[in-house]
This record gives sequence, structure tokens and C-alpha cells, in this order.
Amino acid sequence: MTPDPDTRAVTAALAARTGTDPADWFLVFKARYGLQVVFDMLREIRGPGDVVTQIFTCATAVDPILVAGLTPVHADVSAATVSIDPDSLVLPDRVRAVVVQHTFGIVDDDRAARVAATARAAGALVVEDSAHCATRMARDASGAPIADVSVHSFGIEKVLPTRFGGAVWVNPATGDAALRRSLVDELAGLPAAGPRLDALARVYRTQVGVLNRLPRAVAAPLRGALTRLRVFEPAVAPVEARGRLPYRPMRPSAWMTRQVAAALPGLDAVQRRRAAAVAEYQRLLGDAVQVPASARPDDPLVRWPFFAADGPTAVRILQALGAAGVYAGSWYRPALFPGVGDPARYGYTPGDGRLAVSEDLVERVVNLPTGGDVTQARRAADVVLRVVGAPRST
Ligand SMILES: Cc1ncc(COP(=O)(O)O)c(C=O)c1O
Repeated sequence: MTPDPDTRAVTAALAARTGTDPADWFLVFKARYGLQVVFDMLREIRGPGDVVTQIFTCATAVDPILVAGLTPVHADVSAATVSIDPDSLVLPDRVRAVVVQHTFGIVDDDRAARVAATARAAGALVVEDSAHCATRMARDASGAPIADVSVHSFGIEKVLPTRFGGAVWVNPATGDAALRRSLVDELAGLPAAGPRLDALARVYRTQVGVLNRLPRAVAAPLRGALTRLRVFEPAVAPVEARGRLPYRPMRPSAWMTRQVAAALPGLDAVQRRRAAAVAEYQRLLGDAVQVPASARPDDPLVRWPFFAADGPTAVRILQALGAAGVYAGSWYRPALFPGVGDPARYGYTPGDGRLAVSEDLVERVVNLPTGGDVTQARRAADVVLRVVGAPRST
């Protein structure tokens, strides 16, 4: 099937930004469905087994593993990256894939390459989760991407204001030719999102604008009712907290693809704005709170994460930010955000000593918006400093 002009514009832009070939990029309705195709094919070709990932993530990043009939196994993260720690990584015998997640958009090439090397030595596929940093990938010393498959998101609360869409890059140098072929065939043949989802994507922004103006006590049940009536497409659906995904893998509708095609030329400007906010947070708060060490001051992070001294302080900071009108987030508290009904189904036993770093970070995390301007970043930083009691440097 020959791709339409908007799809070609998107894959060409993704390829140009990453130094890759447009023919190795495939579009999906949401990144989670790209992950599902990867895990479906993996299970089909290599059989059942484990996928090593992390609890400091969104449930929608783990659902595709369960839907594909594979078993999530969680590794602990490094506090420097909030991504799997290569120094403590021990892979299970039946490992099929390891997910290298660039949490908040922190890309640590060295640690990612070490995780990838451990995965490859065990015969596992290296799946890069670049949902938070579309078009950014971990690279080796020669500049080549380290992953076999790299998954990017244009979805809700990601880097671009597109709200729908995702993309999968399949490394042409991947060793397993049969897996590569099946993946490419499957991704290239996905049906497009149908008229209902297309219509909901078009009204999403207006719906959220209205919901956000309502008191929370009204908005939350209304959002739930609209979701049940299938007239609102939520960021995380109720079934996505129960180990399932509501749809089969799809590519975006023509309208969704056009939004991504229109937004990608503005990505540099978006990244510059986010990087400026990150630099300001780092300057004002870097000495007052714990920041992941691998986050560079000029990274275009999707949110600026930090860790408060303890859980109650994190909650106090979030409350103070809320009272000051700053939309702060608690990605990923609770773990497997926004929390799942049965953690055991997700391969997670709360209190598991092997996930001590992850659980500690989940407890203390706060993240600040990077989509506004530097003045807004300063205001948010001031609120944080008031709570933690550290003086502002200038
Ligand atoms: C780390 C991570 N991976 C994957 C996803 C799924 O992305 P999408 O919303 O495009 O399905 C998310 C969504 O929040 C995420 O946070």
C-alpha cells in the first residue's frame, strides 16, 4: 500500500530528524498500539516469555505486554535516569525483550547502551520507549540508534500538542530477519482508526477545555460517563488499568496524521521552549531538590521531574502548586500510573525489595510543566522553594 502524502510527510520528517530511512517508520493510533504490534510479533515468532520493564511508568506501557500474552517482569531503575539500572539488571531465563524507557525524555546513551548490551547477550529484543521524547533516541558512540525497535508518541500530554498518534521505527540492522519482516508487514498493513475515533479526536480539545472548567466533583464523573458512552476518548481508559487495551492495533486516521504532519515542523521551537523551562528549573531548584543526574540542563523534557525529601513533602508541594494554579503532575505516583486494579496481574508485588529504588522514587516524585514560558517556570519554582524552605538563588 502506498502511503498517503501526510503519512509520507510524517515519516520523512521523522527520518530527517533521526538520520534514519522513512521506509523504516510506521504510524500508529497511539504508541501503546505500536508496542502491542511489537510484542504480538515477538510472541508469535519466539513464543511466550518475559518482557523486562519498569513500574515507574504508565499502565498503558505495560498493557501491550499483557495483551500480547507475554509476562511483564520489572527491573529496578537508576535514580539518575528513572530508567532500568544496568548495574543491578538481572534478566530472567525466558526473556524476550527489554524496554529501555526514556522517562520524561531523559536519554542517557551510556546507560541505555549497557542495558541494550545485556539484553542482546541474553537474546532479547531491545525496545526503546521514546514516548516522552518523540524523535530522540539513545545512540552508541558511532551515533547509531541502539534499539531494535523505537516507539514514539504524539499523544495526550506528550511533547507536541497533537494528542493522538504514535510512530514505530524498526531498525533495518536488527539481527532477527524473520521478526523484522513480520513486524514491518504487520505495521504496514494496520487498518486506520475509524470514523468514531476520528470524530472524537477532533472534539477532544474542546471536551477537555470544558471538563477543565468544571469543578472536579462534577468533571470526574462526567468524564467517566462520557467514556462509558464512548463519546470521549480518555488518556487512560478504565480497561487500561485492568491489563487490557480497548482496541486492536490501528494506524491514525487521515485527520490525525495531518495534525502530526502540521505539528512536526514546529518541534524545534517546542523543544527550545521546553529546554528553556528545564534550564530555569535546574537553575532555581537544582540545589534544593533531588534531580535525576542524567537530566541535562538543556534537555527538552516533557516534564521536569524531581524528588522531594519524602512522600508527605511531595504531596505538600503538589498541593501548594495546585493552590497557586500550577498544573503539576505526579507521574508516576502511584506506580503503573494512574494505578492498576491488580498489581499482581502486571507482575508487580508492592513492597518487592528488588524494586526498592523505584518504589522510593514513586513515593517522592513531583514533576513540573515545561510547556509554558520561563516566567511560568519561575512561578512554579518559587512555590516549590516556599514549601521546601530553600532560598531562591537570585
Ligand atoms: C512511558 C510511556 N510509554 C508509552 C506510553 C503510551 O503512549 P500513547 O499514549 O501514545 O499510547 C505512555 C503514555 O503515557 C508513556 O508514559
